[in-house]
Amino acid sequence: MTILITGATGQLGSLVVKHLLDRIPANDIAVSVRGPEKAADLSAKGIDTALIISAEDDNAKRIAQHRTAVDAAKASGVKHIVYTSIIDPKADADFTYSAIHLDTENYIRESGLAYTLLRNSFYADLLLAGVPHALETGDFGAPAGDAKITYIPRNDLAEAAATVLANPADHINKTYDLTGTKGVTHDEIASYIANATGKPVKFVDLPAEVHTGILSGLGLPGHLIEALAGLYVGAKKGDYETVSSDFETLVGRKPQSVEDFVAKALK
Ligand SMILES: NC(=O)c1ccc[n+]([C@@H]2O[C@H](COP(=O)([O-])OP(=O)(O)OC[C@H]3O[C@@H](n4cnc5c(N)ncnc54)[C@H](OP(=O)(O)O)[C@@H]3O)[C@@H](O)[C@H]2O)c1
Repeated sequence: MTILITGATGQLGSLVVKHLLDRIPANDIAVSVRGPEKAADLSAKGIDTALIISAEDDNAKRIAQHRTAVDAAKASGVKHIVYTSIIDPKADADFTYSAIHLDTENYIRESGLAYTLLRNSFYADLLLAGVPHALETGDFGAPAGDAKITYIPRNDLAEAAATVLANPADHINKTYDLTGTKGVTHDEIASYIANATGKPVKFVDLPAEVHTGILSGLGLPGHLIEALAGLYVGAKKGDYETVSSDFETLVGRKPQSVEDFVAKALK
């Protein structure tokens, strides 16, 4: 059995490799591929199962890249694709990247290969970006209102992926909703930051245009700003508040809570 991991240089991919090395021999792990021209390399290595980690680009490019990765895997004799999707992928979600994941999921299903879809919720790690400003000003800002979001640590999502990759046959044509233990509000997150640091931090509900203005000032690409703004619009409608027990079923323990994650990260 040989497992390929794309995006292995990234934050999620490198954690998947780390967790996979706890489970299978290093000789069974191969990393990264960026296009169909590499398909020959893949067949030479006898890859059975490929983890396709979603890329980062605008919707049209990313849909094409993901389809290319699926085609490359199929052309090289891969039998089973594992894909890092998003929770509740929809064509018309306010979180615009959701449509990419729906397309990729459908393309994988239509490929005729065995598949496992890991529908990841949002990384708890993303919350740390707002911490320096919160500690400086006391304000933890986001256009989140009282939305509840089932954030989950990236490391836990990596362990879930490694669990599947270590025994792919047990997960053929399965879809897992990988969420945190509860949907947390930004009020709660601000209190976690305050408790962890001993500093006064409160949540500030930013107007949407202030939020997008800040992101533009940081130089983020338009498609990312649109997706991040949409994430909060969708979350306020309840799109990302549903908790699933699939992580615990898969990994055999509950994921680390956001409260514990923040406490340990800011210790
Ligand atoms: N659920 C969430 O909250 C959340 C948050 C952020 C991102 N994501 C998604 O999850 C993915 C993994 O997250 P991460 O934190 O590991 O991101 P990351 O650290 O930015 O890593 C992304 C990885 O994908 C590779 N990659 C990007 N475009 C590619 C392409 N066109 N072809 C092949 N490889 C490509 C990168 O390779 P290079 O290093 O060679 O560029 C890198 O190894 C992201 O790419 C994004 O799609 C999810």
